[in-house]
Amino acid sequence: MRISILGSAAGGRFPQWNCGCGNCAAVRENGRESTRGKARVGMFSGKPRTQAQLALSADGSTWFLAGASPDLAFQIESCPELHPRALRDSTRDSPIAGVVLGSCDLDHVLGLLLLRELQPLRVYAAASILRILREENSMFGMLNRVEPQVVWTSMSSDAPFPLLSADGKDSGLRCEVCYLSGRYPKYVRAEVAKLAGDEASAALFFESPAGASSSGTSAPKKRVAYVPAVGSLSDTLLEKIDGADLLLFDGTFWSNDELRRVQGSGETAHQMGHIPVEESLRLLENIKVGRKMFIHLNNTNPMLNGASPEHQAVCQAGWEVAEDNCHLEL
Ligand code: MLT
Ligand code: MN
Ligand code: ZN
Repeated sequence: MRISILGSAAGGRFPQWNCGCGNCAAVRENGRESTRGKARVGMFSGKPRTQAQLALSADGSTWFLAGASPDLAFQIESCPELHPRALRDSTRDSPIAGVVLGSCDLDHVLGLLLLRELQPLRVYAAASILRILREENSMFGMLNRVEPQVVWTSMSSDAPFPLLSADGKDSGLRCEVCYLSGRYPKYVRAEVAKLAGDEASAALFFESPAGASSSGTSAPKKRVAYVPAVGSLSDTLLEKIDGADLLLFDGTFWSNDELRRVQGSGETAHQMGHIPVEESLRLLENIKVGRKMFIHLNNTNPMLNGASPEHQAVCQAGWEVAEDNCHLEL
């Protein structure tokens, strides 16, 4: 299985152009220094980051997106494998066959609107999220203004399901979903959120079947766990994560009161539905996975600074801090 991390930041990117916090200010300064040819190597692991975005493929040719970030146009441009291949029947032959949505937070869905010019796509999401996007937000009607365009498919947590293109072709990838919370974004009207249930955020698991790898050798089944927003760790979730070849886990905040300390106000990490990294390091101490990375990194998280003790603690515990444009073959 191929997996590309195209974006690794939480909503708002990193560094934020308008943020005066120490983290952002220093990374911006570092950037200016590098453009003057005086890069201060070693100061930061943090390169500029766009909003969290994955692309996955079983065969290296048909790709599925996990989420659709507001930075998607730029992210697709930066990844040649996702470029349209040829004009066929007057439509663009895009390698992107579909999108799997784990939430309807804006940083997870705004990019859908940027896909309105592609060939038909299949979009998988919870039934409640499909209702919120399609019935409560008429702008998403742009994805169904001609036929054929987007095929919306609701995903249930009952069993893993194959990821299909809009015309029903099997991509070889399997997806499994574990719903995590009923905390819908603030733009969702209270009465809609109340009826929506517990599908506001999901852990997504992607699996490629055992079979031939791109190098021609036989490859075992591979599994990726994508959990960019999670407020608490249930035994069910831990069991599903266990044994994954790659875990991409919520790295939004380092500490629970981070926003308050940096900005003087704001909700706690837990109130926002994110386990702070200093807690998840302990909670996931014994998890058995091939490789583990923190993703969906907020600009306030001190572990973005490669020189910080927090960054060191993460590395010592065997974790990586995800970066943009990281292309992996599992
Ligand atoms: C989150 O991950 O907590 C949300 O995306 C925050 C937001 O609405 O930007
Ligand atoms: Mn988010
Ligand atoms: Zn900042």
